[in-house]
Amino acid sequence: MSDAAKVAISNQKGGVGKTTVAINVAGALNCQGHDVLFVDLDPQGNATEGLGLEAEYEAQPPTLFDALTDHEEREEVNSLIVSHPEMDVLPSNIDMTSVEPELTMAMRGRERLGQVLDAIDTEYDVIVIDCPPYLGNLTDNALLAAGNVLIPALAESTSKRALEILFDQMEVLEAEYDTHVRDLGVVANRVETTNEAEAMLTWFDEAFSDVPVWEIRKRVTLQRAFSAGCSVFELEEECDMTTEFLAIADELGRQLGLVEVTA
Ligand SMILES: Nc1ncnc2c1ncn2[C@@H]1O[C@H](COP(=O)(O)OP(=O)(O)OP(=O)(O)O)[C@@H](O)[C@H]1O
Ligand SMILES: [Mg+2]
Repeated sequence: MSDAAKVAISNQKGGVGKTTVAINVAGALNCQGHDVLFVDLDPQGNATEGLGLEAEYEAQPPTLFDALTDHEEREEVNSLIVSHPEMDVLPSNIDMTSVEPELTMAMRGRERLGQVLDAIDTEYDVIVIDCPPYLGNLTDNALLAAGNVLIPALAESTSKRALEILFDQMEVLEAEYDTHVRDLGVVANRVETTNEAEAMLTWFDEAFSDVPVWEIRKRVTLQRAFSAGCSVFELEEECDMTTEFLAIADELGRQLGLVEVTA
């Protein structure tokens, strides 16, 4: 199982579209015929609820908290995975709100997600991990387990500092764990036609000249898909952003070595 490609969707800045991008990129990968596991690593559980899994968020132990913090519960991860029409989901849970100090005290506390994913019996082509809006043990776990990151960011000047801080943390992890965390690209999100957005898109292109920069515009359809518990690919409504999400999935497929399954 451990050979599934993995990507962390991360930016410690809140509300930039991590969950929206994660769900829709997962939906696009599914459209391209890949078996997708979606991991909601955010204690807020937005993706879990957004995918219609409120009951799992409120469920009693064992939950993802236990699989991450207790070696003996690691295998329980297999009983936690639930199916969704587009993907399988490893849901977050209310207990995850107290996982950070537990991981700080745990042995190899930043490698727990990797160990949990290795304990999964089902084969997946790709695992998409939605990260919380802060740097800490969970985000470190996601970056280390995935080794790849896709970064959503708003086309606003405050994104510059946020990205600087994220890259600093990636460098710290790389040095500490003698590994490489590959930046697969930046998703400029909720883009509107303003001068600031235009200036920031130019900045993204210049600052990230060696990786792709995609542009997802502000669209209520994306919010409607979230409310309907699915990606835009399952929504019975046209959305002009599907092309861009498919382009992201294409590029991830290429960079992660996924073989496209033609229907
Ligand atoms: N392209 C978009 N167009 C319109 N609305 C969007 C877009 N992207 C995100 N949103 C909305 O913005 C809000 C924040 O998005 P989202 O929850 O995906 O961000 P996040 O980075 O995951 O947040 P958090 O940091 O809290 O985890 C949500 O209400 C979402 O529906
Ligand atoms: Mg989120």
